[in-house]
Amino acid sequence: MAFPYNETVLDHFKNPRNVGRIENPDGKATEGSPACGDMVSIYLRVNNDTKVIEDIKFESYGCASNIATASIITEIAKGMTIDEAKKITWKDASEALGGLPPIKVHCSVLAVEGLRSAIKNYEEKHGLVENLEPTTV
Ligand code: FES
Ligand code: FES
Repeated sequence: MAFPYNETVLDHFKNPRNVGRIENPDGKATEGSPACGDMVSIYLRVNNDTKVIEDIKFESYGCASNIATASIITEIAKGMTIDEAKKITWKDASEALGGLPPIKVHCSVLAVEGLRSAIKNYEEKHGLVENLEPTTV
């Protein structure tokens, strides 16, 4: 069987960009996969006036595909507004990585969902989500 990962994926796996966490982040989320039990966390620093993602970091406990995707989406999302970053799909990430093995697509989706959830977390904290369920304590 051919080795499934191309050079770009391997580069992002071996030298992931934006790894770590942000203290007191403006938005954060952790997504877990029922398929493998792996997790990815995304941290955001957002400019409240422009809604631009000024900093973004991630921690992954997943496989190479998950780490490489998280790495590339942090590069893509940095400097975007939250509305732009919300539209990043796993396909965008996969294309930017030059393709991922089909068997690893959900690991990539997991990282993209982490970014979306972190943005949602930011929106909820800043009253940007309409029709929020009343929170019960
Ligand atoms: Fe768990 Fe890919 S196998 S994130
Ligand atoms: Fe874990 Fe892919 S097997 S997310």
